[in-house]
Amino acid sequence: MVTVMDLYKNSELTIGEQQAQGVVGWKSPSNIALIKYWGKHGRQLPLNPSISFTLSQAYTQTIIEYKLKKKSSNKIDIDFYFEGLKKPAFARRIVKYFEELKEVFPFLTQLSFEINSDNSFPHSSGIASSASSMSSLALCLCSIERDIFNKEMTTKEFLRKASYVARLGSGSASRSLYPKIALWGDTNGLEGSSDLFSMPMKNILHDVFIKFHDDILIVSKKAKSISSSDGHAIMSDHRFKDGRILQANKRLHILLKALKKGDLEKFGRIVEEEALTLHSLMMSSNPSYLLMEPNTLQIIIEIQEFRKNTNIPVYFSLDAGPNVHVLYPDSVETEVKDFIKSKLLKYCKDREYIKDYMGSGPKELDF
Ligand code: PMV
Repeated sequence: MVTVMDLYKNSELTIGEQQAQGVVGWKSPSNIALIKYWGKHGRQLPLNPSISFTLSQAYTQTIIEYKLKKKSSNKIDIDFYFEGLKKPAFARRIVKYFEELKEVFPFLTQLSFEINSDNSFPHSSGIASSASSMSSLALCLCSIERDIFNKEMTTKEFLRKASYVARLGSGSASRSLYPKIALWGDTNGLEGSSDLFSMPMKNILHDVFIKFHDDILIVSKKAKSISSSDGHAIMSDHRFKDGRILQANKRLHILLKALKKGDLEKFGRIVEEEALTLHSLMMSSNPSYLLMEPNTLQIIIEIQEFRKNTNIPVYFSLDAGPNVHVLYPDSVETEVKDFIKSKLLKYCKDREYIKDYMGSGPKELDF
């Protein structure tokens, strides 16, 4: 059996005579989970499988310039800039991440790095950026390895390794690697599924889900009172933990059927239940906490009423925060955009929202 520790363990890949200077870059999107990953164990392994739509407009672009260190040392050497400014707090997080990756990329201590990262969405818009930022960083590291060692890898192998590496930085980041939709976590009856990396799921999608929108309504731009890492940790001894794991697995199978059959109604029911379950788990944890705001609930109620009155298939989802994701198929775009403008923008901070949709996955930058 392949264990987490030995998969991709690469101790022989150290830099000898190789050319070790260059620039790599990736643009990688965020994603919205339909079945939520909430709670982990071991080394970033999920308590339950999750599945998400890959987004398009909310992305991070990361560029890494690397060169051989002048003096060899065991320390990670990083300069990190976010939107053009040096960010020591982020840099410390990346140093820690690189430290944990030494087994996968032993050359990390032989190089020095200048990392430049930018988000497409407004800074501190309350949009979770760990999925896009950690996936773009992981892709850059895989590209550096490929370039230095002339590694022969198929695209499939490359993306799987990037997904594995991204997961070690942020679980949800492992899912941002694939177009349209990706699944992460051992799933009963689904060959190839793994807790170690995500897998593409585009092939199962019925036509109604091929062009799907996710408009993100910005209810608040404030930093979260509890981080996702703390939220995952609290799940370890949550009184509903076992029930939650069973529920997520069961819902995932129902959702997979709905995605195959094009059953929008069932899709919407499961997605909304999952969003509310995520927040119920927060409210019923010890300590208990609340990330929704009054306007989050106002928007949810408006969406449910609009759907009931018009029969238009529009649904909500939530991440670990107060902002609301509005999900709908392309066929009802005009009606839903009008509804957002006339009824929902008044609940948004500075009337701001991001018009997003399912995208085609990460793109490598040319230099
Ligand atoms: O990847 P993390 O550690 O930031 O956790 C993400 C958790 C949720 O966004 C709430 C759910 C998910 O599956 O994306």
